[in-house]
Amino acid sequence: MKVGFIGLGRMGRAMSRSLLRGGHDVVVYNRTPEKAAELAEAGARVAQSIAESCEGSEAVMTMVANDEALEEVTSQLRESLPAGTVPVAMGTHGVGAIKAVAAAHAEAGQPFVAAPVLGRPEAAEEGALGIVPGGPAEAVERCLPLFEAMGKRTFRAGELPESASAIKLANNFVLGCAIEAIGEGMALVRKYDVDPQVFHEVLTEGLFAGPAYNTYGRIISAEDYDHVGFTVELALKDANLILAAADLARLPLPSANVYRDRLLTAMAEGDDQKDWAIMARVQARSGGLE
Ligand SMILES: NC(=O)c1ccc[n+]([C@@H]2O[C@H](COP(=O)([O-])OP(=O)(O)OC[C@H]3O[C@@H](n4cnc5c(N)ncnc54)[C@H](OP(=O)(O)O)[C@@H]3O)[C@@H](O)[C@H]2O)c1
Repeated sequence: MKVGFIGLGRMGRAMSRSLLRGGHDVVVYNRTPEKAAELAEAGARVAQSIAESCEGSEAVMTMVANDEALEEVTSQLRESLPAGTVPVAMGTHGVGAIKAVAAAHAEAGQPFVAAPVLGRPEAAEEGALGIVPGGPAEAVERCLPLFEAMGKRTFRAGELPESASAIKLANNFVLGCAIEAIGEGMALVRKYDVDPQVFHEVLTEGLFAGPAYNTYGRIISAEDYDHVGFTVELALKDANLILAAADLARLPLPSANVYRDRLLTAMAEGDDQKDWAIMARVQARSGGLE
């Protein structure tokens, strides 16, 4: 398929490469043009503007940092999309922003799909993301070959784009709680002179096998917070989106506040660009461990 791809950050670069490997005809655009060079080498065409990335494309995907960026890009996309082209937002966005963007596209007669992704840049690089599309069934159907190139599994959220956003935010919420729990458990055993690696093995070869505990248990036991997949800054953005979605729905999420505070402390300590697993170090320090 011919596809436009806007936003070449950690995730977007890897996802565009998967699309190219899948045999799709990819036109990329990034606000900061230098990041497009490696995609050009991999076979993508580089657009000089959002409008150019839309020309002749059957779908135009965005993978931008936050709601403000999505809203900015959407206002240009709305003007440039050819009739029938599907705009697909793949970043993690708030339910309110996704509803607003869906309404803006609907006004212009454009079927909008939100398709947030599950997995860090390593998974994106391997084409092994989980992809959660929500939107009109026919538009989702048309994008399936693109999702198949980028992911190993597509989870249909239904006809509402905000349902996809809710699934992504809830998944991140559970993951944030898991990281907080690993950090707390790790701090407790360290108080009793346990080698963190041994506790990591106890967790992952016992009750807590699986990618979340494996990946984050490893990062936390090795204190490898400079190996960045997902930054503290973006994780705090998501914690705020999770709490905003819960507020809108009149739903208390007490644990979300706990780990959001860890992220705020990490930001205050100047660690906003470290991996968000660093919330375990915030916990350790709160108990006098370094
Ligand atoms: N990293 C992960 O593990 C992960 C996993 C799943 C989902 N996500 C979500 O995926 C999205 C991207 O994450 P990432 O890790 O790839 O972030 P990133 O490396 O910080 O990249 C952000 C991208 O957004 C673009 N951008 C920011 N503001 C913009 C604006 N106003 N107008 C146009 N473009 C703008 C940036 O362009 P410039 O290059 O010009 O700054 C860059 O291409 C986020 O919503 C994140 O929450 C991330």
